[in-house]
Parts: sequence; structure tokens; C-alpha cells
Amino acid sequence: MYGALSLDHSTKTKYSFQRMNILLLAITFLSFIGVVYLATEMQSIREQLLVNQPAFKSMRIDNTFAQEMPQNLFSTTQHGNNTTQILIVHAGDAWLKQFGQQVAQGAKSITKNVKILHPSNATINDVLWADALVLGSNVYNANPDPELLAWLATLSFHYDLSSKVASAFVLAGGISAGEELVMTSLLHAALIFQFIVVGGDTWTSAFGASAIMGEGPFHLKTTNNILHGWPNECYRQNNEIPQYFFDKAFGLGRRIAQVATKLKV
Ligand SMILES: *[C@@H]1O[C@H](CO)[C@@H](O)[C@H](O)[C@H]1NC(C)=O
Ligand SMILES: *[C@@H]1O[C@H](CO)[C@@H](O)[C@H](O)[C@H]1NC(C)=O
Ligand SMILES: *[C@@H]1O[C@H](CO)[C@@H](O)[C@H](O)[C@H]1NC(C)=O
Repeated sequence: MYGALSLDHSTKTKYSFQRMNILLLAITFLSFIGVVYLATEMQSIREQLLVNQPAFKSMRIDNTFAQEMPQNLFSTTQHGNNTTQILIVHAGDAWLKQFGQQVAQGAKSITKNVKILHPSNATINDVLWADALVLGSNVYNANPDPELLAWLATLSFHYDLSSKVASAFVLAGGISAGEELVMTSLLHAALIFQFIVVGGDTWTSAFGASAIMGEGPFHLKTTNNILHGWPNECYRQNNEIPQYFFDKAFGLGRRIAQVATKLKV
């Protein structure tokens, strides 16, 4: 009886030991397959990022960044018929003034009716005249220009501004030091007054056109033909706003005039 039991027991142990071995082997095999699968997936994700991401492409030294931008919906609208009216309102420094001029040039590629006014000289009648309002500001401790904000506060809900377009441009000292906050603050105010809010003409000017004048570029180094850091044209030279930023301002002015023209039809 005891002998039989003990024999049974050892046979069971032997069988369960074999099963354990098979199980371990299966787990090891499946883990191996899993690791190989993950490695392949990661490689293909990495390749897709390098090939398809504009942000990665932009770092290439051949600098084909601008040409690779998808054309926006309105790019085929070459010219309006000079009936669209654009109002640009800003106070601020000499750089902002230059930047605003570029926004105006972009709008003028669509219509001749472009007006730039200082907040102290812009009235509600100018806003009612305009099909599109473009607000420009420097960055004041991550807030918009107090003069511009005071002017915005004079707009009234009494008027229907709901078929007009609005957008923003900003001249900033630093990256991540309020530039996007100022743009979105201005857009928020425009939304309160029922404007149709429009951004710039590329994904790099999604909330409007901006120029960074006090910071950059990041440390530049090249490996395998890939430039790590900012392209040189982003960096201010001779105290001038780089063309890279001017293009965004022009694109914004042109796009807002195109959208306003389409809305008039
Ligand atoms: C708009 O006006 C400008 C300046 O007067 C003129 O050069 C342009 O041809 C006009 N465009 C159209 C489409 O009438
Ligand atoms: C406002 O308009 C007046 C009269 O046209 C002009 O003299 C003045 O310089 C303008 N102010 C600003 C800040 O543009
Ligand atoms: C200009 O375009 C507007 C909007 O499409 C249209 O109402 C107007 O008749 C056009 N004017 C001329 C002179 O073509």
C-alpha cells in the first residue's frame, strides 16, 4: 500500500516535471516571438517617423522644408477682385511694425483694401468696414499688449461681427515665454466677439504668425547629413527679422484675405 503510493507519487512528480518543462519552453518561445515582434514594430515606427514627419524632415540640411509644406485649401485663389477689406490693428515696437507690414503685404497680394491702424486710432467703424481683422502684439509677461487689450474691450456685442474673420501675429523675445499664449489670448477674445478665427498658412503658424527675436538657434551639429538644431535662417542677424518669420507673416495676411474673400461670395 505505502509502496504503491510512493510509486504513484514519483510517477506523478515525473509527469508534472515534464509538463513544467514543456510549459517553460512554450513561455520562452512565445517571449522570444514577442521580443522579435516588438523590435520589428519599433524599427518600422522609427522609419515612418523619419520618412513621414515634416518635423523630422525640417531638420534635413537640404532645407526643402518650405517646399514640402502641403498647399492649403485656398492657395488656388490667386486674387480677389479688390472688394475684400482687411484691417490690421497693433501697437508695439519697431519689429512688430515691420512684421505687421509683412502681414499687410500678404493681404495686399489678394486685395488693395488693407488698412493698418494703431489701437488709439482704430474705431468700431473701422472694424465694421473690415471683412477681416488681424491683431498684432508684442509679448508682455506672457500677456498681450495692454493697449491692444484695452482697445478690444471697446468692441461691443451690440454689433454683429459673426461673418468677419480674425487672426493674430506676435513678436516675441523667447521660445516658450508667452508667444503662443499671446496669440491664443487674442484669438480667444476674437471668438468672444463671434469672429471666425483663422491661423497662418502652414502648420508651423497654426495659431498665427510669430517671430522669436531674443533666443536661438539651438546648438547646431550635423550627423549623417541631418542637421540637429535650428536652420540658420531662424536666427536673427544684423538686428533684422529673419525671412523665415517674414514668410509666416506674409502667409498669414494672404490666407486671411483669401478666406475673407471666399466668405464674401
Ligand atoms: C486690384 O487693385 C490693384 C491696385 O489698384 C491692381 O493692380 C489689381 O490689378 C487689382 N486687381 C483686380 C483683380 O482687379
Ligand atoms: C492717429 O491719427 C492721427 C491723425 O491721423 C495721427 O496724427 C497720429 O499719429 C495717429 N496715431 C498713431 C499712434 O498712429
Ligand atoms: C467682387 O466679388 C464680390 C464677392 O464675390 C461680388 O459680390 C462683387 O460683385 C464682385 N465685384 C466685381 C466688381 O466683380
